[in-house]
Amino acid sequence: MTSHWRDCAEWQRQGLKLSTTSNQAAKIYDAVLSQRVSMYDDPSVGGMEQSLKTLQAADPQFVMGQVMSVGMSLFSTSDTIDNNPELRDKVNALVVHADKSDITPREQKHVDAINLYADGKLHEATVKWEEIVAEYPTDLHAIKQVHGSTFVVGRPQIIRNVVNSALPSWTTDMKHYSFLKGILAFGFAETSLFPQANKTAKEGLAVDQDEVWCRHSLCHLHDNTGQWDYGIDALQTTEAHWMKCTSFNCHLLWHQALFYMEKADYDKVLEIYDNHIEKTLKDSHSMLAKRDATSLLYRLEMEGVKIGDRWEDVYEICRPNIDDHCFVFNDTHMLMSCLGAKKPDVAKKMVNSLRNWARDKSGYYYQTCMKTGLPICEAFVAAADGDFATAVDLIHPVRYDIINIGGSNAQRDVFNLFLINAAINSSKPEHQHLAKSLIHERRALKEDTPLTDRLMSRLMAQHTQ
Ligand SMILES: [Fe+2]
Repeated sequence: MTSHWRDCAEWQRQGLKLSTTSNQAAKIYDAVLSQRVSMYDDPSVGGMEQSLKTLQAADPQFVMGQVMSVGMSLFSTSDTIDNNPELRDKVNALVVHADKSDITPREQKHVDAINLYADGKLHEATVKWEEIVAEYPTDLHAIKQVHGSTFVVGRPQIIRNVVNSALPSWTTDMKHYSFLKGILAFGFAETSLFPQANKTAKEGLAVDQDEVWCRHSLCHLHDNTGQWDYGIDALQTTEAHWMKCTSFNCHLLWHQALFYMEKADYDKVLEIYDNHIEKTLKDSHSMLAKRDATSLLYRLEMEGVKIGDRWEDVYEICRPNIDDHCFVFNDTHMLMSCLGAKKPDVAKKMVNSLRNWARDKSGYYYQTCMKTGLPICEAFVAAADGDFATAVDLIHPVRYDIINIGGSNAQRDVFNLFLINAAINSSKPEHQHLAKSLIHERRALKEDTPLTDRLMSRLMAQHTQ
């Protein structure tokens, strides 16, 4: 955490000139960026919500302030310019304002990237942000945009490469140096470069023990390498450092719950759910908490765990987002809440609505929805109807495209587990062979996998005469 914010002169000294002449705007822009990067609310500036208001009031014409505000809405994964006319107006106004104003070439590229992203050209926007980082390696705002984008398009190699390219221009005493190490470690872990992930996260933590992205990357490293006990221990022994990150601690607890689920310690999983994840869900209504909660409950049910009436509250909290139709990764999780709460009619209506929304449209969100998101959703609905054969026939052909709907390996594993469980339960003999081969595949990627062993036992129990 930091309390030093850069004024106009300091931004310029660092080669990142801002077009505003308001030192207050420059400083609060820095405070917003800092809170966004490290996912916390700084009380000295009234937290993120107040900071954004202060930023707008300090200089309403400040282009990078507008880029920040619009970008945060676009990366909320709930808003697009198609479902939010106010956001569309803001993007259009930003582009027009930038065109008429005396802004720096770097700021203009930021505006261009936002405009591309808003228009559904996510890869093109990311290329623009990559260009900014190549020219201005210390532009943390551009790096954060790449970080957000690579999560949405499921390409961790981009953030890995971008941070690797920028880091030679950073020194350990620079603010958020350890954040860069954290997201780089995530990029390494997600692309199976495990020793580099471990080394990089540890280097970041050596500079700042509280850097939550380094802690988070270690969760992914431990998950991707099947180090369940080590993952639990690493989180337990460092709780004082990451629990204070109130916007993200729920997700680290979700990772911890997954480690316990692997070990079949379902009481512990439910304890974490009841004491932390459900509480965060009810307090924050954040999309991250909604995804964590739905994914965890759905996985528990696939394990055969009775979860009582927990779906009821989750469904009520997810209900306002059922018709969001922006980021299909979210839609798949909102659908889980409908099916979990035994609302099959709502689920089917949601899938139809999703199909109508995405049909015959261009842009990343629509295309990934049509090609991959809809088959996933239809498979989940079929499985809820007990038609596991259809579920397999729907999701199996798109399994290698699922990465394109976004998220991390750990988050998308719910779809791998769904396919295996559906194949085990399918009435088609060929799906039982498929289940066996998928389980072998899974075991080959992680040596110590009790959950995978349980899947094999279930397959044998259900299909051995
Ligand atoms: Fe994660």
